[in-house]
Order: sequence, then structure tokens, then C-alpha cells
Amino acid sequence: MTQTVLLVGATGMLGGRIAHHLLEQPETHVRLLVRNVSNKEKSETIQGLVKRGAELVEGDLTDTTSLDRATQGVDVIVSAVQGGPDVVVEGQVALAESGRRNGVRRILPSDFGLDLFKATPGEHAAFNWRASADEKIAALGMEHIHVLQGGFMDMFGPGSPLVDYEKGVISFWGDGERPIEVTTVDDTARMTAHVALDRSLTSGKFAFAGDHVSFHQVADTAEKITGIRFERRSKGTEAELRAALDHAAGSNPMEAIMLAYQLYMLNGQTALTSLRNNQYPDVTLQGFESFLRGRFFQRNS
Ligand SMILES: NC(=O)c1ccc[n+]([C@@H]2O[C@H](COP(=O)([O-])OP(=O)(O)OC[C@H]3O[C@@H](n4cnc5c(N)ncnc54)[C@H](OP(=O)(O)O)[C@@H]3O)[C@@H](O)[C@H]2O)c1
Repeated sequence: MTQTVLLVGATGMLGGRIAHHLLEQPETHVRLLVRNVSNKEKSETIQGLVKRGAELVEGDLTDTTSLDRATQGVDVIVSAVQGGPDVVVEGQVALAESGRRNGVRRILPSDFGLDLFKATPGEHAAFNWRASADEKIAALGMEHIHVLQGGFMDMFGPGSPLVDYEKGVISFWGDGERPIEVTTVDDTARMTAHVALDRSLTSGKFAFAGDHVSFHQVADTAEKITGIRFERRSKGTEAELRAALDHAAGSNPMEAIMLAYQLYMLNGQTALTSLRNNQYPDVTLQGFESFLRGRFFQRNS
């Protein structure tokens, strides 16, 4: 039986890949909620998806009428939005409420990270917004599934703010020894498409990871592939990171969020458990070495 999936965020980095993988699934009708459709760049991305069969609904999370138009006849909502509390909390809750009014069965909120439910309230604003939205969404009584894949592996590839592949330098807080869960953007999107449509799942976390890597393991792998020796620089202890976080919290909220991510990478507080990597026989998650080799092969070919 065909399921209709409403995807919000298809013009984004992750959402574009989710749209691609949803369109690959059999018996699936894909509807996209997109704002400012007339924007040329967006319209090119979107037109590609429309040519492959996606239905386009113009709308905005801040516009309830557009949400009601978009959620009618929908089985599952997938949100891949990004933003501040107006988007992540108010916007997503309005989307879920509209879904509830229109009989939508399931929602996948835009979680896509480490286990944000284990974050200390007040420490990591981006996790706190998601946890707050997720609590309100759960109270609506729809099925709600939280896709958690750790960090994007792509963050550790060429172009990463954490690893300078040109200069051969990797920077981290602490001793750089703790591994964290990482998954490619594309594997995250592929799994999300399966999770959205899998009628056997019940509400709760759905965690998986393509690999576990520490900063030293990233450096070891980069050295193996590039032949370059990487300098490994610690920026300070956990106590110094916490002091930097406290300072940024009052003056630079975006910097505070980046530091909070690094704090949880350092202390493992939001590590994923109960990984379901093998849930779908046709999905094999890529490991870090294979990912990095692919990136270097692409760059140098
Ligand atoms: N774990 C990790 O390492 C990691 C890293 C990066 C991202 N993420 C997560 O992945 C998810 C997606 O992030 P992303 O980087 O792919 O985001 P992104 O590229 O910034 O895309 C965000 C999408 O949300 C849409 N959007 C924002 N506000 C909207 C509104 N009011 N109404 C309708 N659409 C709206 C944007 O539409 P417009 O094109 O119109 O702006 C865009 O399509 C987020 O949950 C983020 O936290 C995780």
C-alpha cells in the first residue's frame, strides 16, 4: 500500500539526500514542503526532485494554513529542518500539530545527532531545543521516531573545521582518545528513508553508526591514506573547554553550541547505545576509512 511522506527541508544538506532516497523507495509518494519556491537555486534543486515524481507544496513552518495544506493525506512526516528555537521548537511543533489534525500517523523530527536526550539541560542549546520539541511532539500521541546517527562523518573529511588536510593538523579538546559515533550524510539519509516507511517500528530512538572514531584514529587513517604526518594539537582540558563554553554562552551563542558539541564528544555523555546498524539488509553503512578513501579518490581523480 502506497505511503505518502511529507518531507520538510528538502533544499537543505541532509534533506536533499533524504528526498533522493525516499524517491528510490517503492510504493512511496513524496511530497515536499518548500518555502520561497521562486528562488532560482532552490527551484533548480527542487525541479530535479519534481521531475523524479515529488509533489511540491509551497509553505513555511510559520504559516499554519500552508502546513494544513501540506499534511492532508500524509502518512509520515520527515523533518530535516535546521534553525533556532523558532524553527526547531515552534515550527516543528506546529508541523506536528497540523499532522495530528490531519490524521498523520508518524513523525520523524529533525534530531540527527548524538543522543540529545542525555544532554544536561542548559548546556547544549541545540540539543535542548530538539529535546523540548520532541517532548511536545510526543505529547500529541502520534508515532514519533528519533533518528540518531552521531556526528556526520563528513565533518572529519577534507574541508573539515576540525582537520586541516592541507597543513596536516588535527585539533581537539582533551586527549583525543574517546571514539564517537559517526555516519555519512548519505547513509543517514538512506536509513531515514527506510525508518520513515517501516511500519514495524514503534515510537522512540532509532540509533545507528557507520563507525566509531577518536581524533587519533581520524589522524591515523588520514596518515595512512595521504602519507602525510598529522600534528595532533590539544586545545586544553575538559575544565578549560567548560570555561570557554561558559564564556561563549554569555557572548556568542553559536560558538557555545559548537563548544557544547565538542564537550559531549570529549566526555561521551551523549553517546549512542542500542545501535540498529543491521536493521535493513539492503543498507550497509560505510566505515571511516572507506569514506575517507572515497573523498580523496574523488578529489584527485
Ligand atoms: N550530527 C551532525 O554532525 C550534524 C551536522 C549537521 C546537521 N545536522 C542535523 O541535520 C539536520 C539538517 O541539517 P542541515 O545542515 O541539512 O540543514 P540545512 O542545510 O541548513 O537545511 C535546513 C532546511 O530547513 C529548511 N527550513 C528552515 N526553516 C524553515 C521554515 N521556517 N519553513 C520551511 N523550511 C524551513 C530550509 O529551507 P530553506 O532552503 O528555505 O532555507 C532547509 O531546507 C538538523 O537537525 C541538524 O542539526 C547534524
